[in-house]
Amino acid sequence: MVDRLNVPDDTLFIGDNLEILRGVNSESVDLIYLDPPNNSGRIYRAGESTQARGVEFSGEWTQDDMRAEWLDEIEKRRPAMRHVIDTSQVAHGKSMAGYLTFLGVRLIELRRVLKPSGSIYLHSDPHASHYLKAIMDSLFGARNFRNEIVWRRPPSPWGTRRWGAVHDSILFYAGPGRHRWNRVFIEHPPEYWEKYYRYADERGRYQLISLIGRGTQGGDAGVEWRGVNPGSEGRHWLVPIRLLRRIYPEMDDLEQLTTPQKLDLLDGAGHVHWPTSGRVPRCKVYADMTEGAPPQDVIVNLGDLRRVERTGWPLQKPEALLDLIIRASSNPGDAVLDPFCGAGTACVVAGRLGRRWIGIDSSEGAGEVFERRLSHRQGRTGYRIARVPPERTDVS
Ligand SMILES: C[S@@+](CC[C@H](N)C(=O)[O-])C[C@H]1O[C@@H](n2cnc3c(N)ncnc32)[C@H](O)[C@@H]1O
Repeated sequence: MVDRLNVPDDTLFIGDNLEILRGVNSESVDLIYLDPPNNSGRIYRAGESTQARGVEFSGEWTQDDMRAEWLDEIEKRRPAMRHVIDTSQVAHGKSMAGYLTFLGVRLIELRRVLKPSGSIYLHSDPHASHYLKAIMDSLFGARNFRNEIVWRRPPSPWGTRRWGAVHDSILFYAGPGRHRWNRVFIEHPPEYWEKYYRYADERGRYQLISLIGRGTQGGDAGVEWRGVNPGSEGRHWLVPIRLLRRIYPEMDDLEQLTTPQKLDLLDGAGHVHWPTSGRVPRCKVYADMTEGAPPQDVIVNLGDLRRVERTGWPLQKPEALLDLIIRASSNPGDAVLDPFCGAGTACVVAGRLGRRWIGIDSSEGAGEVFERRLSHRQGRTGYRIARVPPERTDVS
């Protein structure tokens, strides 16, 4: 496929993302993650003793952000979005309408630069996520909504007389083309191992799973094997084929084998447990063979920044969260864009995973923090910092 991207690989732009995005070619990016400041009415400042000292950005929007030229553009290019902004002004107020105008005009550019097969993840907090979902529906189409991911972030100080607020929402839209989707796994929490991997032998910790399922099945799934005949009791053999594939990765004809042959292979590899009392064998699954759990739309155990990744940038996100998103929704060589990149978390992770990246942040401090993060921690220097928007090469 032709590479339409007109930005050199691995570029951090410092400047207003709207100006920079206007210079990026259409349909040239595979994955976008954006984490704009929340509309909290606060100024975010980095601590004095952190790497990001001196960095500050605003989380305050007002009626002034409902700029006439932005509203005109929204009205012209996405009339439905204009209705959402007007509704937010009635239901919530001018600050929310200003926030949505600021983001809406940028999201229109992001929609333009995203490939039809691309994915976009918009990180927001519960004060705005429902309005943003309506904005995203108006732009990407409700049919292309995939998930609202609830991410349990580190708790902020408890409010009084209400439930503790501990989550953000990440809105995931993809398509309309067939979008990238890779199977990814999340590490099980420690209590999982204690609950399920209760046995151990010289090879390590393991759990026992059933080799027999309810009901009869055609073929050889109900035949006798090593003196056990599940078919005679209305049951059938349940061979864990994915486990077998992991044990014998070199055998590409596993599917063609009979059920007793598959069971022989499992037993030969030491994965069948024969109980001392009773006759029904079970399957041993060792802890080092589990892939982890497929992530679901509630993520509870990836909230903390590791000490080594902390820069002090306000609202910095953990690399583990970006690692999951980038691996699930892009392939090596793909272009990943973060237009509010802050301390560069998405860019750092994208680079580590072999993706090309573009980061944009309006804060001057971004370059310094980024430099330190990439070159000191990862020994990488092959990236560039730019202050001038790129020139589109797909329009005359
Ligand atoms: C919540 S922080 C992003 C944190 C980031 N995800 C990380 O892990 O470090 C939001 C960022 O948006 C940036 N920002 C705000 N307005 C911007 C604009 N118009 N263009 C580019 N960046 C902007 C701020 O400087 C801030 O760094």
